[in-house]
Amino acid sequence: MANIVVVGVQWGDEGKGKVVDLLTESAHVVARYQGGHNAGHTVIIKNDKFVLHVIPSGILHKGKTCIIGNGVVIEPKSLIEEIEGLKNRKIYVGKNLFISSVAHIIMPYHAMLDGKNEEAKRERKIGTTGRGIGPAYVDKMARIGFRMGELLDNKRFREKLKTNLKDVNFLLEKKYNHNKLSLEKVYSQYMQYAEYLAPFITDTVVLLNNLIEKGKKVLFEGAQGTLLDIDHGTYPYVTSSSASVGGVCTGLGVSPKRIDGIVGVMKAYTTRVGEGPFPTELTDQLGEDIRLKGGEYGATTGRPRRCGWLDFVSLKHAIRINGFTSIALTKLDVLDELDTIKICSAYTYEDPYKRCECSKKGVACRFTDMPQDAKVLEACRPVYREFNGWKTSTQGVKKLKDLPKQARVYIDYISEALNVNIDIVSTGQRRDEVIILHNPFKS
Ligand code: IMP
Repeated sequence: MANIVVVGVQWGDEGKGKVVDLLTESAHVVARYQGGHNAGHTVIIKNDKFVLHVIPSGILHKGKTCIIGNGVVIEPKSLIEEIEGLKNRKIYVGKNLFISSVAHIIMPYHAMLDGKNEEAKRERKIGTTGRGIGPAYVDKMARIGFRMGELLDNKRFREKLKTNLKDVNFLLEKKYNHNKLSLEKVYSQYMQYAEYLAPFITDTVVLLNNLIEKGKKVLFEGAQGTLLDIDHGTYPYVTSSSASVGGVCTGLGVSPKRIDGIVGVMKAYTTRVGEGPFPTELTDQLGEDIRLKGGEYGATTGRPRRCGWLDFVSLKHAIRINGFTSIALTKLDVLDELDTIKICSAYTYEDPYKRCECSKKGVACRFTDMPQDAKVLEACRPVYREFNGWKTSTQGVKKLKDLPKQARVYIDYISEALNVNIDIVSTGQRRDEVIILHNPFKS
């Protein structure tokens, strides 16, 4: 296949960094389509750990073109730090990195407002990463945001900043009792960023489409996951971008006709960071054990991730929306020591309004399709199917036949019940700890 997308199937942190890194070998171009430095893509090469936030993981491979698309929101300081961090570790970043001139910029007030909004929401808070992602997308939609290309026109940038700061400072001072931002300080800071980033900024729509025309293979890299998608996730407990496959077309300016394959990255269990419904969450010692074994702490914020069982109801939703042509199942080895492993096959729900037929009959509703309302989802209880654990180490296994029988039973069940092709099984953190049954690029 020429061009494939890598999408998170759950609430992010499925291990997309490693899968993108693996598949990049077969690609010429890696292009990121949404999100910002709220993401943290971890790649382990030999004993070196790299955490990338905005730069596509493809940068770790020599000779690959990396594109940050228009759907991404960019915090210039953190991007510069990311570039410098890579350079310090002898990773080349130069003529291989392109930034869309129409990608929106995260301004200092976006992070401030993110924090203040969350404080003000109290029990309704979302548990954002605090990076200003939501407020930056708000300004994009309100048509008052800055785009990367505007950094290159200092006069225009200053004028617009002056206008924007009038509103922002009013809000900071009057609503949040916070100091005003200085026009001169922000302006001079952003002009320094402009000087550094100018060589990378270009029309990536023309660039990417020309590369595709020339027959270059592209890997479209998603961040976060389908259940955090602004439209199809557990709203309002979502991020502010289109994390599912639809984001590729709007976030990079490519036609859906250019997408040849869609790889869903699915963790062998479920995790979520931040607030929001999570029907299969384990709030007991077992959840804690999985967190420890899986190293389930946010790559960006270090927050402990909530852990739970695999959830077929939400997975079916993600499969429906994305139409995965293959699945990469990750972190199988984290389940190695468990006696029993559960999969949620349905939810039960007591309807407080007694509107549905089941409630009228005095029984709980049974959902096999994920309810769209987070309030309903919050009240759903999982119905489980149990599997025996395999109680054998699978770490580093490279062939399917070398997996313990029960691990294969688990994998086969996922594949058959969800009707998906599991092409990749990750059995450890390192690049080579993986079973590749089929390379999605080679159809
Ligand atoms: P925001 O993207 O910072 O606005 O956060 C919104 C929600 O998305 C919060 O629950 C975050 O924890 C979650 N989130 C954002 N980025 C990631 C990610 O890369 N992995 C997992 N969760 C994320």
